[in-house]
Amino acid sequence: MKILLGITGGIAAYKSLELTRLFIKAGHQVQVVMTAGAKAFIQPLSFQALSGSPVRDSLFDCHQEAGMGHIELARWADQIVIAPTSAETLAKLRIGRADNLLTTLCLATDKPIMVVPAMNHLMWFNEATQENIQVLKQRGFEVLEPAVGEQACGEVGAGRMLEPVAIFEQVMQAQKQRLQWEQDVLQGGAFWQGKSVLITAGPTFEDIDPVRFIGNRSSGKMGFALAEAAQKMGAKVTLVAGPVQISSPPCVKRVDVRSADQMFHAVQEHYKDNDFFISAAAVADFKVVHKSIQKLKKQAKEDILSLSLVKNVDIIAWVAEQPKRPVVIGFAAETEHVLGYAKAKLKQKKLDAIIANEVGEGAKGFESDQNSVTLITKDSFFSFDEGSKKRLGFQLLNAIASLNLRSGCVESI
Ligand SMILES: Cc1cc2nc3c(=O)[nH]c(=O)nc-3n(C[C@H](O)[C@H](O)[C@H](O)COP(=O)(O)O)c2cc1C
Repeated sequence: MKILLGITGGIAAYKSLELTRLFIKAGHQVQVVMTAGAKAFIQPLSFQALSGSPVRDSLFDCHQEAGMGHIELARWADQIVIAPTSAETLAKLRIGRADNLLTTLCLATDKPIMVVPAMNHLMWFNEATQENIQVLKQRGFEVLEPAVGEQACGEVGAGRMLEPVAIFEQVMQAQKQRLQWEQDVLQGGAFWQGKSVLITAGPTFEDIDPVRFIGNRSSGKMGFALAEAAQKMGAKVTLVAGPVQISSPPCVKRVDVRSADQMFHAVQEHYKDNDFFISAAAVADFKVVHKSIQKLKKQAKEDILSLSLVKNVDIIAWVAEQPKRPVVIGFAAETEHVLGYAKAKLKQKKLDAIIANEVGEGAKGFESDQNSVTLITKDSFFSFDEGSKKRLGFQLLNAIASLNLRSGCVESI
């Protein structure tokens, strides 16, 4: 693997000598890129000696081919690892600065970037740093969070850079996962190439008044993972997203909605143009009958507030009933009797397949990055052990591909 190792200005920079040695020993190629800050802590010569190539540190380098070292390095790398990542570089990555070689090549790459923050614990817990980390995670950066322990400043807390061996193992693990995804893409690509897929994801919010709503704990991660996997496998993807804090996978058409009614209208508009409809959203079953225009006031005498609710349209059942319809695949998020309820829903709503998903206390389904699910059709079962939702997205699409379901037919199950 070609690893571009970025080093920024922090005390932990010395630990990256050992990290370089571990990568080289395992047979990887390493190109070190240092910021000016990093060079204040450690000499480039040590990295050059260990990696076997001169350290790159200048954005304006006339000796590079076409004078565009940042583009050449961005293309060369299979994986970018920035260890240590300073608070300053995290901030620059978050806002997209391009004022040194490392930040510029990070902007110019589509390769995976892993950041390994290291800093004083107050810097780490500072709201600005935490917000930067959250935004970077949402954009797909891998973040190896710092360890707790004694710090160079003499204080104790979270902010120590992970040890080189731990970083090395995480990089290897991430590479293994990527290779797995690439295999998945190859496997399902032949089926999904050129297909169009409509996916709903996330919760819906049913407004009570201008400041309150009824919602649920769906994070949207499973639907977004399916959208990303389908797009990577060559499908044209439309993603109808409820209110979630996730950035869209690249090249996916996203339609943002808030309520079940809005989601229904978006699905009505798009379902006909799609070969598959995958309903991963946790759509509210009910909405408030009379949404108040003004904020509801607490009545001094009343201990109980009654809200009248009315059923929302059952979106998936509606699509499944249409005479000319896509292949319809639902999710059954249940807290008990998961498989039994899922099978009943498959039959009752005349779906082509259903993905049974345990949710609630102790289960992974909602809010987590992990999940374990079962794909059920009228005559087959595919169980998937706990794994990342991103990987499950590919696995589910491969399993669906193997079923060879066709659109336009409402089969009676
Ligand atoms: C002695 C010393 C130690 C520092 N250690 C850290 C550190 O561990 N983490 C960090 O984020 N910043 C640390 N800084 C601050 C950074 O070096 C500074 O923000 C610098 O601008 C980082 O730039 P860079 O990210 O481009 O390398 C330290 C500064 C000094 C003077």
